Amino acid sequence: MEVRKYKYWIILVAVLLAIFIPISIYYFSTDNSEDNGPISKLIIDHDGGADDAMAIFMALLYEQYFNGPTLIALTTTHGNVNESQAFLNTQRVLDIAGRRDVPIYRGSKSSLVMSVPAGDWFGVDGLGDNVNEPIEPIEAHSKHAALGIIKLVNKHPGEITLAAIGSLTNVALAIQLEPELISRLSHLYVGAGHVYSESEPTPEFNAEQDAEAYHVIMQNATPDKVTILPFSQVGTKNITRQWREEVLGAIQTKIMTSLNQFERISLQYANYWSLLDPIVLGVLLNDTIVGDVKYSQNSIVLCGQERGINTNSFTTKEEANVKVINRIFQDDFKKLLLTIFSAELYN
Ligand SMILES: *[C@@H]1O[C@H](CO)[C@@H](O)[C@H](O)[C@H]1NC(C)=O
Ligand SMILES: *[C@@H]1O[C@H](CO)[C@@H](O)[C@H](O)[C@H]1NC(C)=O
Ligand SMILES: *[C@@H]1O[C@H](CO)[C@@H](O)[C@H](O)[C@H]1NC(C)=O
Repeated sequence: MEVRKYKYWIILVAVLLAIFIPISIYYFSTDNSEDNGPISKLIIDHDGGADDAMAIFMALLYEQYFNGPTLIALTTTHGNVNESQAFLNTQRVLDIAGRRDVPIYRGSKSSLVMSVPAGDWFGVDGLGDNVNEPIEPIEAHSKHAALGIIKLVNKHPGEITLAAIGSLTNVALAIQLEPELISRLSHLYVGAGHVYSESEPTPEFNAEQDAEAYHVIMQNATPDKVTILPFSQVGTKNITRQWREEVLGAIQTKIMTSLNQFERISLQYANYWSLLDPIVLGVLLNDTIVGDVKYSQNSIVLCGQERGINTNSFTTKEEANVKVINRIFQDDFKKLLLTIFSAELYN
């Protein structure tokens, strides 16, 4: 009797081992780094244009209505406008959203090495050059954006997703000061650059604004932590200006009315609508819009005629420094925008 009982135990243990050993081998050899679960905390580093405004509104609405990540800070940089204007625009956006509580950290006023003048695609003030009511100022945090990012990431290691949707100066500075920065993030999304096109190699605005900063980030990037959204892969001509104006723009909320005014100038330039910054936020908030992701070894040309042009080679995970979003589902992105921006109407 005793011996038989003992035998059953051995069989039971053997069966359990037979089940759990393969499961654990599978588990530890599979890359689960993609499966970060829901993002908990978000920082947006941005350059103050109408496209940044839309991205920030998306984050705030997702936080409020879809249990999305908490926007714990906005950091400002130069790009669509100078940094002073980006700071003013950040205050306006937070004021419109009724979220004056979100901390603003002011960042770089110029590039690391060679500054490029601010753009005026969205108007001289970046928000459509409307005649605006003055708003009650919001005070900036005393720390520089790069130090603010480091402080927050060290306070919440592994929890923060950083969306870099302007010139990359602040993020590069933060990495130079804290080389462990990227490994301590949950993820870094960079909206910048193009996938290299042999027939038409051109620099992309955000990458060109601070090419050295892009270089610094690529030197420190690992594909489990860094995802690039190149404008060439997402800035397609599939979404029309008519859809932007008559469908998205028809949503009757204070936020959409403001965005329509902010894009007043830029919308006139083309019959299609493609803004990178809202796509970065779309991908980060709900990755069901991602159509195709590739591992890539990404870099940027710093010298000569091709300065600012990205190079990349699609490769294996082991050789890659980043993941590149190669395609997004445009229709799903449109649906996501409609869902986010109309949420206020139904809640
Ligand atoms: C920033 O840009 C705004 C808008 O073009 C301009 O009025 C302001 O003088 C600029 N500020 C600095 C510090 O360059
Ligand atoms: C993402 O979008 C899909 C499709 O609309 C939806 O079913 C899903 O709940 C969303 N996920 C998150 C995390 O919001
Ligand atoms: C854009 O539209 C074209 C033509 O309708 C289609 O072939 C293509 O797949 C679309 N691209 C995306 C990314 O949706």
